[in-house]
Amino acid sequence: MLTRDTVMPLSNDFIAPPDQAAADIRAELSAGLLQQNAQTSPKYLYDALGSKLFEAICELPEYYPTRTEAAIFDVHLSDMARSVGRGSTLIDLGAGNCAKAARLFPALRPAQYVAIDISADFLRNAVEQLRQRFPQVAMMELGLDFSTTLELPERVRREQRLFFYPGSSIGNFTPVQALEFLRRVRGECQVHGQTDGGLLIGVDLVKDKQILDAAYDDALGVTASFNLNLLLHLNRVLGADFIVRDWQHCSFFDAEHSRIEMHLRARHALTVTWPDGERRFAQGESIHTENSYKYTQQGFLGLLAKAGFGNPHVWTDPDNWFMVCHAHAGSEQ
Ligand code: AVI
Repeated sequence: MLTRDTVMPLSNDFIAPPDQAAADIRAELSAGLLQQNAQTSPKYLYDALGSKLFEAICELPEYYPTRTEAAIFDVHLSDMARSVGRGSTLIDLGAGNCAKAARLFPALRPAQYVAIDISADFLRNAVEQLRQRFPQVAMMELGLDFSTTLELPERVRREQRLFFYPGSSIGNFTPVQALEFLRRVRGECQVHGQTDGGLLIGVDLVKDKQILDAAYDDALGVTASFNLNLLLHLNRVLGADFIVRDWQHCSFFDAEHSRIEMHLRARHALTVTWPDGERRFAQGESIHTENSYKYTQQGFLGLLAKAGFGNPHVWTDPDNWFMVCHAHAGSEQ
């Protein structure tokens, strides 16, 4: 697992995990596969190919979150800019290709842009391109697993921190983890002993099961490839011998937990081995690879309040499928 103490400078403003982290990652993966209900963290879906497949998912007709969120930003950007104010330290969590943050630049006019993502190589190219387009904005990229730590380097400005977390990635945490994460974000909004700044976040809302099921099991099979690619990643990182064709993508909306569950299901009985372990899977047994929680507006605002955020402003699409919310880190603001 990465912590701030285990990251080291590589060049300029880039931070990457050292080799020690690789052993921790193998231990985490191995432990997850050996659990009675085998599971892996969704962050392992994002190797270089996984990140590209996720970009393709965002283009799919069935995957409504990306275009619905984009439309909300298009319609309400000036209102959002009024709520946020200019000159912020824009901290982009899970920046990917940085395209979402780039669209905010003209309205928000950030003083500093900090792009954070676990897939570091992907990030470096994206920020380089952004530097050319907005030379007046100071920029920095951090290869960091922010799901476990959010202590930022000194070079990240403390004033007016605006954490930007679009795409409903918060849904990939359990609600308990989401609350812890939101508290950590708020904890990073302190300057001179005072709470300052806030959070601009996109959240997917509960809707008809058919729409949700289709969004995570598209006709082209891109989401299936995204899920199955995890096995190639595990083969590389863990030294495992998964055979992709032995596995099947499976996803469904579980209304009781208000979440999409994504699994990889064994097509027949098989054994997977890796240097420190092996696991036998019965036919139909699965590896749980992702949850994607869907919130009600009220439910999410309650979570924000519990984490200490105040004065939320909410924007939604006409169908109420998705919400974007700006909340202040100081509850009095
Ligand atoms: C990144 N995250 C918000 C996506 C989601 O909708 O939960 C990941 C994803 N998994 C399958 N399709 C998209």
